[in-house]
Amino acid sequence: MTGEGERLAELGKRRGFFLQTAAAYGGVAGFYTYGPQGAALKDNLEAAWRDRYVTREGHMEISAPDVMPEAVFEASGHLETFDDMIVECSGCGASHRADHLVEDHSDSTVADAEALPIPEVETLFSEYDVTCPDCATALTDQPIEDFNLMFETNIGPGSSSPGYLRPETAQGIFVEFPQWAEYARNQLPFGVAQIGTAYRNEISPRKSLIRVREFTQAELEHFIDPEADDPPIERVEDVTVPLYSVEHQQADDGGIQELTVREAVDEGIVADPWIAFYLGLSKGWYERVGVDMDRFRYRQHLPGELSHYAADCWDAESEIDGDWIEITGFAYRGDYDLKKHADHSDEEFTVFKQYDEPITVEQPTVDPNMGYLGPEFGGKAEAIAEELAALAARDPDAFADETVTVEVDGDAYTVPVAETDFAVEDVTESGEHIMPHIVEPSFGVGRLVYTVLAHAYEEDRVDGKKRTYLSLPPEMAPTTVGVFPLMDKDGLGERASDIASDLRGTGLTVTYDDSGAIGRRYRRQDEIGTPFCVTVDYDTVEDDTVTVRERDSTDQKRLRISELPETLTALRDGNRSFVDL
Ligand code: GAP
Repeated sequence: MTGEGERLAELGKRRGFFLQTAAAYGGVAGFYTYGPQGAALKDNLEAAWRDRYVTREGHMEISAPDVMPEAVFEASGHLETFDDMIVECSGCGASHRADHLVEDHSDSTVADAEALPIPEVETLFSEYDVTCPDCATALTDQPIEDFNLMFETNIGPGSSSPGYLRPETAQGIFVEFPQWAEYARNQLPFGVAQIGTAYRNEISPRKSLIRVREFTQAELEHFIDPEADDPPIERVEDVTVPLYSVEHQQADDGGIQELTVREAVDEGIVADPWIAFYLGLSKGWYERVGVDMDRFRYRQHLPGELSHYAADCWDAESEIDGDWIEITGFAYRGDYDLKKHADHSDEEFTVFKQYDEPITVEQPTVDPNMGYLGPEFGGKAEAIAEELAALAARDPDAFADETVTVEVDGDAYTVPVAETDFAVEDVTESGEHIMPHIVEPSFGVGRLVYTVLAHAYEEDRVDGKKRTYLSLPPEMAPTTVGVFPLMDKDGLGERASDIASDLRGTGLTVTYDDSGAIGRRYRRQDEIGTPFCVTVDYDTVEDDTVTVRERDSTDQKRLRISELPETLTALRDGNRSFVDL
């Protein structure tokens, strides 16, 4: 960790944002505990996410278990393909991600080793003389293998019922799809959201909150009819988005393109309009929660980088310490997941789509004469009858001659068409069963917490002294108001304490502090990003007014105590600005 990372780790621990879990026992890599400030910031981020992606869009929010039976992940493909490449050092026994070692040893000349097949990574190990980062032993002859990232457990005693901690919250949504469709009255499009914990047994967790083994995801699964549903793109068509497409990543001189959502769709740079819609919608949300737009981009996945379920994917990335970090994946998952769960279970993962007007269609039918099939084919008669029905639906022309042939268990059986009672009937249909496609914005909450902290970190000089402050949007700040008595005597302490509890009663988060010099109290609040501080002084006793100080400018205004609840709430919610008070 360098620069920003070190500063954040130090501030995170000292001021209660986040700390290494179980440090008393030597710590455990890839696990972090949020302290009071971090937990509050994370809560605020989740509330803002819920407000934007659930409440304002009218989607459902659900909460599924963290543990799921093996069958779920067999169907989803995670058991077979949710792997990273691992290499073990013969010198010190440490395990490393092979693709990361190639990237590090090639000074990022190889940018996306994750997308390469293992034999190619082995060749690159030799080319770049890859050594162990812990003990410098050569790793060029070590085998590279696939390592599944899921944490396995047993459901109940014994090992007969294996389960896994979910590696993405999404599967908890997909497996219950028939139920959500019923709640949505079979009307597409509809969205189901979930904020919850995901677990990945990362080979080498690193960079603080960025690559951990347990983290919170906020995911929205938007189920759409790919033939009929268009996104409300007009809502965001004029939003400018910073796009880094595959083409630009592969070109020598390709950089970020600033395009409106409409241009991105019309020029085919973002192929799917639903993804484009979410890139536009989300840009405003990132700004709202404090991501610095000068350190932000949308990058398209390179072909080899796509997850096993995704047809196209764009990542929102933030810059920290010179590295680009994926904070959200916007994936077009198509019907991959619902198809898989339909294939592996007995449920229907479709919705019934009603036509505007009923339609009449020709429907081939058979009603095989079992009195003929039984004596003729014995134990195979039932299977042959089923095959005849399937063939009639699939290829009615096969019944055009005097005989028809079907295959059962690899053997061909020929039946006179007259014994099948083949007919084509006119049937009226009021609709059809269709399998929705899925558009998925998937946010990593911990990476957002980290980004927002990194981008809010500021240093300046106030009264000739260096000051550190977090320029968090008031809505995100762990504490909205600090309340101080100038001195804890002459009744000022009681007055300030009453103001603090009145403000708490209105739903504001308030901290009361009467220890140390007033300047030091301001600094403490600046460092945790508290946007407003209220100071009770001797004038308060005379005229019921207090000083309100704004964090970034350090400007102060005098307000009546009675105005505080409404004014501070409006400032927190962005409905008023401090300069206009
Ligand atoms: N359901 C889709 C999905 O899980 P993903 O890109 O693997 O997609 C989504 O994960 C988000 O979760 C990422 O954009 C990232 O912010 C976060 N994330 C993934 N792995 C993480 C890890 N090991 N530590 C912290 N956050 C992680």
